[in-house]
Amino acid sequence: MIVLGIETSCDETSAAVVRDGMLLSNVTNTQVIHSQYGGVVPEIASRSHEENIQTIVESALSASKYSLMDIDAIAVTYGPGLFGTLLVGLNYAKGLSIGLDIPFIGVNHMEGHLFANLLDNPEFSYPFLCMLVSGGHTQIWEVQQYGSYHRIANTRDDAAGEAFDKGARIMGLRYPGGPEIEKNAMGGNPKAFPFTIPRVRGSELDFSFSGLKTAILYTCKKMTESEIQSNLNDLCASYQEVIVDTLIDRIHKAVEITGIRRFSVAGGVAANKRFREKVDKIVKPRSIEVSFPRMEYCTDNAAMIAIAGYERILNGETSSLNLKAIPNLSLDEVHSV
Ligand code: KG4
Ligand code: ZN
Repeated sequence: MIVLGIETSCDETSAAVVRDGMLLSNVTNTQVIHSQYGGVVPEIASRSHEENIQTIVESALSASKYSLMDIDAIAVTYGPGLFGTLLVGLNYAKGLSIGLDIPFIGVNHMEGHLFANLLDNPEFSYPFLCMLVSGGHTQIWEVQQYGSYHRIANTRDDAAGEAFDKGARIMGLRYPGGPEIEKNAMGGNPKAFPFTIPRVRGSELDFSFSGLKTAILYTCKKMTESEIQSNLNDLCASYQEVIVDTLIDRIHKAVEITGIRRFSVAGGVAANKRFREKVDKIVKPRSIEVSFPRMEYCTDNAAMIAIAGYERILNGETSSLNLKAIPNLSLDEVHSV
């Protein structure tokens, strides 16, 4: 069975082809235009998807050596995400489904992230924990088996990527902030500024990053422009360190609480080198298996949507043309497609 996957939930236009669960191609266009606005502008994102989707689908098909006529089914993200951007992918998929007279399946974007790890590690066994750290989410999921997910941690306010982005803006750096902070943290002293791991009332596992953003704001307010510039390495290193330490702390606690010693990490923040370095140094020696999918599968991509959709189709599921884009779709609703 050949499945075409389509993903347009935010600012990545992506298409992928899988044959019998094997990934053949994955083509993604990241919209760089948003960097000048300090964040994703929904209207611009929708237009850009509309302009690019045809080319991206054609590229994915051509890289897979198959044509539209060979496709047996389409898997497409229908939430969560931005309403307008979701509609571009969903309506495109519905159009293809009608035109080619083949079924389509709506896929929950978060389920895609949970399965991204299996693209490179098909042997990664159940149960496992998945930490999803992106610009919109910071969560830990317990995955007992395919289709059985339980969220054990969430952020109470900002996501980890958002903390990087907002902190970067306060320090005068560009969007997206994560890579900028990582670059400027090189050679800086991570202990120079005493930021502390945020505690969350009533939960050992939940996250909170808004206090950290306030801390960097007040620290910078007490400094002149040139002081910020001359302390930029130390500021970035200290800020990055506390975010990374928070994530590591929650990995340890989640393992302790669930007794599950297998972790996969997904989302843009998984690209952070300091995070990966500390996982290697601190987490893995405690006999905790941690897997970082390769970067193109960590950030938004259609490969993970195609794989998740393939599993659902194998399960006998398809969607009807009535399927709506659901911006705040939760993973618990995954069975109601
Ligand atoms: O998963 P993603 O590409 O998009 C969604 O948010 O869905 O994640 C983007 C987020 C941004 O907040 C960005 O600042 C952060 O991931 N990010 C990083 C790094 N690369 C991207 N954060 C820390 N270090 C990085 N190297
Ligand atoms: Zn995502």
